[in-house]
Amino acid sequence: MDDDLAAALADAWARLGRATGERRRTTGRVALASVNVRGGPALRTVVLRSADPAARRLEIHTDRRSAKVAEIAADPAVALLLYEAADEVQLRVEGRAALLPLGPALDAAWAATPGPIRAAYRMPGPPGTAIADPALPPPATDVSEAGRENFAVIVLAVDRIDWVRLVPGADRRALFDWTGGALQASWLIP
Ligand SMILES: Cc1cc2nc3c(=O)[nH]c(=O)nc-3n(C[C@H](O)[C@H](O)[C@H](O)COP(=O)(O)O)c2cc1C
Repeated sequence: MDDDLAAALADAWARLGRATGERRRTTGRVALASVNVRGGPALRTVVLRSADPAARRLEIHTDRRSAKVAEIAADPAVALLLYEAADEVQLRVEGRAALLPLGPALDAAWAATPGPIRAAYRMPGPPGTAIADPALPPPATDVSEAGRENFAVIVLAVDRIDWVRLVPGADRRALFDWTGGALQASWLIP
């Protein structure tokens, strides 16, 4: 694939696809950046829930009460970083984020969320709330509807992917940019 831009783009989406889901415990975690209320960068690790190359769309589940949700509402510009140490590949994705509206797609995402994950949406206050005791009693892990109102899906519309692979003597970097409508693809100096 060394000199094939289409293969580099396919590799980028394949990596995003492999990074989806809870089971990727050790590699493939992604970092999501948004713009914080002070106009600065805000970064956090998230689990990628889906990656759709045809729709150029990524999904992340989150707590509606979290800072990132307010940040995205104020400024939808986001970036996402995936670094795979095994073969030294970095993906930097830029795009626009929005919340999935109330409706069947959100209902289906919640329905597919298992009890232990639902527990994350049952915390007694927004993520980042100060607490006196760090060991709050763990929320119930059943599949009841408790926490449903706090569950949100962030949909990231992908505008650019910057793909870098470091291989001694054969470093490669490619940029894929859809901001002008049609895809513009080019190799870059790494
Ligand atoms: C391994 C790992 C995975 C995480 N996955 C998610 C996730 O999928 N969604 C999420 O909202 N927060 C996730 N978090 C927590 C975030 O990193 C962050 O602490 C939290 O969402 C609050 O961020 P905010 O205040 O910037 O909104 C994860 C943290 C770790 C360490």
